[in-house]
Amino acid sequence: MGVAELETQLKDVEKRALAALAEVSDMAALEQVRLNYLGQKGELTSVLRGLGELSKEERPKFGQLSNQVKESIQARLDACKKELSSKELTERLSRETIDVTLPGTGRRLGHVHPLTQLSNEIIQILFGLGFTFVDGPEIETEYYNFDALNTPDDHPARDEQDTFYTNVGPQVILRSQTSPVQIRAMEKQQPPLRIITIGRVYRNEEINARKYPIFHQMEGLYVDKDVTMGQLKGVLSEFIRLLFKKQLKTRFRPDFFPFTEPSAELDSECPFCEGSGCRTCGHRGWLELLGCGLVDPNVLKGVGINSEEWSGFAFGIGIERLAMLKYGINDIRHFYSSDLRFLEQF
Ligand code: DAH
Repeated sequence: MGVAELETQLKDVEKRALAALAEVSDMAALEQVRLNYLGQKGELTSVLRGLGELSKEERPKFGQLSNQVKESIQARLDACKKELSSKELTERLSRETIDVTLPGTGRRLGHVHPLTQLSNEIIQILFGLGFTFVDGPEIETEYYNFDALNTPDDHPARDEQDTFYTNVGPQVILRSQTSPVQIRAMEKQQPPLRIITIGRVYRNEEINARKYPIFHQMEGLYVDKDVTMGQLKGVLSEFIRLLFKKQLKTRFRPDFFPFTEPSAELDSECPFCEGSGCRTCGHRGWLELLGCGLVDPNVLKGVGINSEEWSGFAFGIGIERLAMLKYGINDIRHFYSSDLRFLEQF
C-alpha cells in the first residue's frame, strides 16, 4: 500500500471518529468510541500497521500526519468528556434538589434509665454523707450471701423456692441481696469504714405488679467505735430529707434480720400527703422504706474484726420500690418493658 492510500485511510478514520463523537450522548458511548478508534485494537492502530510497508523517506511524513490525526481525535474526545460530565452533574443537581424547609430526620438521643437516675441521685447523697462506693459480684457463694451474714442453715431464704442456685459449682448462687458486699468490704478494708453499693439482686419470684425476679438494692455499711441506733437514724433521716427534698419525720419499727441486732424497719412520713394519708401510703401516713440495724457482733467476728472494739450499722433499700414511691409508679414491670411511653417521662 502506498503512502497516499494510507493517508486517505487516516483522513477517513479521523472523519468517522469525529462524526461518531458528535453523536455520543453518555460516558459509556464515549468510551466505546475511544476503544473503536484509539484503542489497541482500534482503527487508527490498524492503519498505523501500514507504516512498515513504507520507505524510509515516506515514514516521517506519514508519522507526522498520524500523530495529528490522533491528537485531533483525542482533543475532541477530551472536549466531549468535559461536556458530558458537566451535563451529568447539572442533571444530577437538578434531580437531587434538597428542600431545606423540610423538618430534619434528626437522630433521637436516648437517656439514662429512671432506675439509674435514682441510683445516681442516691450515690450523690451518700457521697455527701461521707460514704464511698464499692462494687460486688452478682454471682455469689452461699458463704457471702448467707453464712457470713449470720444466716442459719435452715433459714427459709436459702430455699430454692427463693434463691437461684447455679450449676457453676456447689454453693454458687445469684445473690439474693446486696448485703454480701458488706462482708467483702470488711475483708478488704480495716475499720473505720463507710461504704455503699448498688446493684442487681435475684430472687425466685412470680412476676406481678410488685415483684420481679431481678431488681436492685442499695446497701450501706458504717463501722466505727461506739456506733449507735441514734447515729443510724440521724444518717437515714438526712438521707430521706435530701432524697425527697423535704424534712420528713422518721420512725423505727422493730424487725429481724440475721446480720443485725437490733434490727429495724425505717418508715418515713409520707412525702406526698405529709402524714395525712393518701393512696401512695395506703392512707397510713407512713412509708416503709428500708431495713437496717446495728451490725451483729457475729458478723464482725466472722471477718476478724474485734467486736468489743468496733461496732457498726447497716441498711438496705430496694431501688425499684423507692422509685415506685418517689415517682408514683404502680407496676414494677414498667422498668423492664423498654416502653418509650414510660421511659420518656423521666
Ligand atoms: N438484705 C436485706 C433484704 O434483702 C435488707 C437489709 C436489711 C439490709 C437490714 C441491711 C440491713 O443492710 O441492715 O431484705
